[in-house]
Amino acid sequence: MAAQIIDGKAFAATVREKVAGHVARLKEEHNITPGLAVVLVGEDPASQVYVRSKGKQTVEVGMNSVEHKLDVDTSEADLLALVDQLNNDPAIHGILVQLPLPKHLDEDLVINSISPAKDVDGFHISNVGLLSTGQKSMVPCTPLGCLMMLRDHHGSLSGMNAVVVGRSNIVGKPMAQLLLGDSCTVTIAHSRTKDLPDVVRRADIVVAAVGRPEMVPGDWIKEGATVIDVGINRIERDGKNVLVGDVDFASASERAGAITPVPGGVGPMTIACLLANTVTACCRANGLAEPEGLTA
Ligand code: GUN
Repeated sequence: MAAQIIDGKAFAATVREKVAGHVARLKEEHNITPGLAVVLVGEDPASQVYVRSKGKQTVEVGMNSVEHKLDVDTSEADLLALVDQLNNDPAIHGILVQLPLPKHLDEDLVINSISPAKDVDGFHISNVGLLSTGQKSMVPCTPLGCLMMLRDHHGSLSGMNAVVVGRSNIVGKPMAQLLLGDSCTVTIAHSRTKDLPDVVRRADIVVAAVGRPEMVPGDWIKEGATVIDVGINRIERDGKNVLVGDVDFASASERAGAITPVPGGVGPMTIACLLANTVTACCRANGLAEPEGLTA
């Protein structure tokens, strides 16, 4: 039977609506407007597209958007000084330094210089530690979006076998922590995992985040499993540039119970969750109740 398609584009629109509702209440009841600062160093074209999209969506939900575009050869000291300034700016509740940074800048140093309370990417080492010990933290946006879609589809995830394919700090590891937090039995698999097809075949939930086009074929998917495809890979097919995921959608959707498409699956959820994290950070900074359904 063909899988149910999990429509990330539509889901992201509902998340943005919720965020916009919270922003309106913060303004009306507390005279507070959440502010998100995005820092872009250099002129990487893909990063420029992301940053533009983040700024546009931030304004659309009623928040303040501040963009800092720095020269490609900005010194580490100057970048750290800007982060420090944003850390100390009460009008800024979220800070995102767009990655990758130019090679002469130490990404870990820069990320860990962001105030953990304003780290809306959830990349700061304090937030990583808080998440892994089950404490309140800022949660990385893409895994948060995947979790929201899984909860929406299944209700409870308790007791399910989840296999995360990919062990990145940005997606694989935090995704595994979130699934563990929802009482899944979690396996983190990767390119060196022995018998990877069999490991994936045991999964009720497969999250594919390896960055290899169509690496997971349909015959690795257990009948009825839920497949979340985080991959966004640009390939050439039949002379055309197309976007594909890390899962072979055509064959996997014949076996899965539900599956996210690429494009239109996980992708739109990432920025929606960035906006959600900014509202959450703003509420926490002001000692206000957190928005329900927008956190992990
Ligand atoms: N570059 C690509 N995606 C992201 C993201 O989610 N956060 C940051 N900071 N940089 C990125």
